[in-house]
Amino acid sequence: MNTLDPSHPLSAARTASSRLVRAYQGVRQEVTPVWFMRQAGRSLPEYRELRVGTRMLDACLDPALASEITLQPVRRHGVDAGIFFSDIVIPLRLAGVDVDIVPGKGPVLGSPVRTADDVSRLTELDPASLTDETFAPIIEAVRLTTAELGDTPLIGFAGAPFTLAAYLVEGGPSKDHIRARTMMHADPIAWARLMDWTADVTGAFLRTQVVAGASAAQLFDSWAGSLSLHDYATHVAPASTRALSHVRDLTYVVTHAPDAAADADARADEPQTETRNVPIVHFGVGTGELLKAMHEVGADVVGVDYRIPLDEASRRLGHVVPIQGNVDPAMLAAPWKVLQAHVLDVLERGADAPAHVLNLGHGVPPETDPDVLTRLVGFVHGL
Ligand code: CP3
Repeated sequence: MNTLDPSHPLSAARTASSRLVRAYQGVRQEVTPVWFMRQAGRSLPEYRELRVGTRMLDACLDPALASEITLQPVRRHGVDAGIFFSDIVIPLRLAGVDVDIVPGKGPVLGSPVRTADDVSRLTELDPASLTDETFAPIIEAVRLTTAELGDTPLIGFAGAPFTLAAYLVEGGPSKDHIRARTMMHADPIAWARLMDWTADVTGAFLRTQVVAGASAAQLFDSWAGSLSLHDYATHVAPASTRALSHVRDLTYVVTHAPDAAADADARADEPQTETRNVPIVHFGVGTGELLKAMHEVGADVVGVDYRIPLDEASRRLGHVVPIQGNVDPAMLAAPWKVLQAHVLDVLERGADAPAHVLNLGHGVPPETDPDVLTRLVGFVHGL
């Protein structure tokens, strides 16, 4: 167990009783908390303006810029959380991998990792080299951001080993991640080495954000939906568990005021303390068949995409797991009445789970009218 610093927003009781954190811990909130994947980004004119002349990964490594971009959607929409502006490939870049983000395309590798020798060359980059010094721009950006956010929690995130490996092996974006899926069967030993290395690199990135001030952590296994349940369980889940083990031990202590209605045995005049862990969310696209397995790798909350209704997702999770999702991003451009009815349906189905955080089923499309997002937040908060 590792207790967060007393100045951390969770320990200092700034975010510990926020709607988002409590919902992630399974306590249903009177008002459903809401945030949007990819809320920090191209749907905002103020983002596009700030990004002019700066490459994506350079923006991520500029603490003042990354912090400002993180804060933009919180100010504009009044969402219940900020999500740290960064990218899943940042820890790869900081570990020494030749990777860039090509606008309109996504992550592209200088040299793809296709053979056992390629894996050996990659894994010579020691994950232990990812120290606080290497992560300094991330730590600084998180500190600047949480100082501004006050009681609003910041969500830290990282890519899951499979999604990162899909980029590493393919060398860039791909449709079915077929080379990565071939490697896991053709050379399971090299694959396991690649996954373990990726787990430690991405896990270090996630831990850094939480220790620096994030109040929750989300692992994105965006492309896990291309896997069968068997392949996921055998060749992917152990590495995701390993990635999450980097944050699983992080705890903080909350102190409850003396409660008059407390149990007669308890000393009513003494404050009660409780140790809680930093909540972990696990999300993937097209992962209806994998929900239970994705919970079991060590997540507290499961993010659901728009392809499966939340009541069905909750049933598959045994009705015991808080869920996040799953407004269809396509609905954001539909007439307000249509979107409104869809959101009400999502909320009603979300009531099947112990707690629900409203989100999209995947990221905000770049062409989304930001006013629709603001209106949606107001609508959910006003119910
Ligand atoms: O607002 C947020 O959600 C926080 C920031 C964030 C970004 N990327 C910023 C970004 C987060 C959480 C991510 C995660 C990410 N990055 C994922 C997992 C989530 C998902 O969408 O499934 C993945 C698969 C990536 C890899 C990646 N990076 C892609 C596919 C792209 C899009 C390429 C494009 O131009 O269409 C990126 C670039 C990227 N990451 C942008 C942003 C805002 C766009 C860069 C730009 O403005 O040009």
